Amino acid sequence: MISKIVGGITPSATCELEGLIGSMKKEGIDVVALNIGEPDYKTPENICQACKDAIDARKTTYVATAGVPELRQAICRKLQRDNGLTYAPEQICVSTGAKQALFNAVMAVTNPGDEVIIPTPGWVSYVEMVKLVGGIPVCVPCKDDFQLDVAAIRAAVTDKTAAIIINSPNNPTGAIYTLESLQAMADLAVEKDIYIIADEIYEKLAYGGCKHYSVAALSPEAYEHTIVINGMSKAYRMTGWRCGYTAAPRHLAGGINSLQGHMTSNSTTFVQWAAIEALDNGEPEVQQMVEEFVRRRDYAYDRVSKMAHVSCTKPDGAFYLMPDVSWYFGKKAGDRVIKDSFDMSEYLLQQYHVAVVPGGAFMSPGTLRIAYTNSMEEIKRGLDRIEEALAALKD
Ligand SMILES: Cc1ncc(COP(=O)(O)O)c(C=O)c1O
Repeated sequence: MISKIVGGITPSATCELEGLIGSMKKEGIDVVALNIGEPDYKTPENICQACKDAIDARKTTYVATAGVPELRQAICRKLQRDNGLTYAPEQICVSTGAKQALFNAVMAVTNPGDEVIIPTPGWVSYVEMVKLVGGIPVCVPCKDDFQLDVAAIRAAVTDKTAAIIINSPNNPTGAIYTLESLQAMADLAVEKDIYIIADEIYEKLAYGGCKHYSVAALSPEAYEHTIVINGMSKAYRMTGWRCGYTAAPRHLAGGINSLQGHMTSNSTTFVQWAAIEALDNGEPEVQQMVEEFVRRRDYAYDRVSKMAHVSCTKPDGAFYLMPDVSWYFGKKAGDRVIKDSFDMSEYLLQQYHVAVVPGGAFMSPGTLRIAYTNSMEEIKRGLDRIEEALAALKD
């Protein structure tokens, strides 16, 4: 019999959808993918070359669980340069993607029965990670503009609260939380002696003058209460390389390292050398990509917000839009009634061959998540299909 904990997990909606689209494409169906959580750009040449060089130099053995010292030093330089954060290499643990780093962080601060606050809409894996370590996810809806509801989060803190997970820029909403709200979170964490797990994986994807702030940088006390999560996937187009990290206060870093030592040991050694190249020399290409994403965001937002009976908040970062399509719930396509966001995304995929992720997967039942990671032409084709599909729904 499968264990209660694993039996109680909901599979990742985004990963499952990917499988379904793959099989449709194999059948020759022309699916427009507006579901993908990775840039359509390829990993830059210099990063690939650094990996090849590492393999040629046979940097292929086990290394320290927390990562090679050179990468941990490069991460410390990056945190200082970009975020004004001072860490020593022994406070860094390099993991198999930010996903593992997040899991390490959740496990490091959550005892069975502890509560972890997750602002929603929120990324699909947070709730499941908390459940996996025997914790209790406490979802607190954001305000209508997808900004943190500071008062509601404060009200949700109990004597069982272990941590709050903050993800800014946010997947799925694209919101960048304001400095004031992050300061309020930092103050709350210090006052109640709880942790903030700050998932900053989209930090480079901030548009139109919007600035990303690292909670840990807001005060020395906030630093002691924050685990920073970041990685190579989104900024350096290294999704498949699986390289992320935690930067933690000293009293947690050793435990995170021990935990990973029993789970996976070090993340892939030669990838770590490519990550050094990304962090030290990757910035110019990041900037080019950001400029392109601004164009795509503006186009996609303009189109979606003009669709009949659809409302949408303009995102400031990441590469997602989260339009509210709930006006269409209860409407029909032939005999088929669209009851919720899951039905809506299934309808869009099966009948109009456009893939988006149901907002319900992110605890945002009235919405869809549209990723503008595909080319402009594909975004246009996909939005045309969505528009047509919505117009075809009848009472
Ligand atoms: C909010 C968020 N955090 C973490 C991750 C995991 O990133 P990685 O590819 O580094 O594991 C993702 C990936 O989609 C994400 O959207």
